[in-house]
Amino acid sequence: MTDQLVEKLRKDRDLSDSELKALIEDPSHDAALTQAADEVRRQWYGDKVYLRGLIEFTSYCRNDCLYCGLRAGNKHAERYRLSKDEILSCCKEGYALGYRTFVLQGGEDPYYTDDMICDIVRSIKEKYPDCAVTLSIGEKSRKSYERYYEAGADRYLLRHETADPAHYSKLHPQNMSSENRKRCLWDLKEIGYQVGAGFMVGSPYQTTDNLIADLRFLQELQPDMIGIGPFITHQDTPFRDMPGGTLELSLRMLAILRLMFPYALLPSTTALGTIDPSGRELGLQSGGNVVMPNLSPVKVREKYAIYDNKICTGEESAQCRSCLEMRIKSAGYRAVTDRGDVKRSGSAVNTED
Ligand code: 5AD
Ligand code: FES
Repeated sequence: MTDQLVEKLRKDRDLSDSELKALIEDPSHDAALTQAADEVRRQWYGDKVYLRGLIEFTSYCRNDCLYCGLRAGNKHAERYRLSKDEILSCCKEGYALGYRTFVLQGGEDPYYTDDMICDIVRSIKEKYPDCAVTLSIGEKSRKSYERYYEAGADRYLLRHETADPAHYSKLHPQNMSSENRKRCLWDLKEIGYQVGAGFMVGSPYQTTDNLIADLRFLQELQPDMIGIGPFITHQDTPFRDMPGGTLELSLRMLAILRLMFPYALLPSTTALGTIDPSGRELGLQSGGNVVMPNLSPVKVREKYAIYDNKICTGEESAQCRSCLEMRIKSAGYRAVTDRGDVKRSGSAVNTED
């Protein structure tokens, strides 16, 4: 039996607020939603899953987001920084393994000046001109974003976290604002980056209306990438006793995103894999088409603890390409190593390339 709401969302890439609310709150649409999301991802991207080599290069952060284990106020967190040489050797290893995108992610760490970031980006692009460099280093001035772009950065990930200013202020300290977060995203887009936004599913105090506001904001921004994953508690944060986001709602939101943004690059995130052993595969089957395995040196991995029980070895490891490929294959897809830039128009894919 066809599901009217799901078919409407597939066709129009949009629904009214009350229709979205029904889809978000009523699990009876899930089977149809997942199936439609998978059909649409196959129309646009075939069975390809893009791999991004993630380099978590600093666990220092000047911010104090209430949900995050790396928050400055967490005195139990072990901190580390990678040197330029260490970052380059992660890239070297990643390149040999077939990775063609490197994601440099870190807390907001003033130790790395704009000059240093530009120097690192330039060096990676010089050594690996066929690779994309993605930065994910938080809120900066427009000038800084321009400088990184000129140095060769191609993409930037900055989750908006929640589009509702009142909800935002419950998750962040007073010196941070939803307004500045959005300003950053608009700046990044205007400068020419491929931009990734996103939010946590089931973050403390989140309502269905908040999720709808997130979808509306994404419709305005039209990002190339959208990263979502369940909120997971971290014992050394003020949200230690809050309930976490569920697998069901995370997969449902992923499928809704695929139907609203058929062209988008949607990672099946580590957080999904953390709350369920099959989370990563289920994410791919609900519309996800990107995985970002960890290329960071094994010795620092467990220190990048944004939430409890974060996977840091085993199947998460970028070094074990064959395990990763097997898992992707078992889910019904194919890991590919090209840069995987966003497909903005046309829906026919050549699945042989
Ligand atoms: N649970 C899940 N995701 C989290 N993030 C930060 N803390 C947590 C947590 N406790 C997400 C945020 C951030 C991204 C890097 O990780 O959305 O943008
Ligand atoms: Fe580091 Fe939020 S705690 S950006």
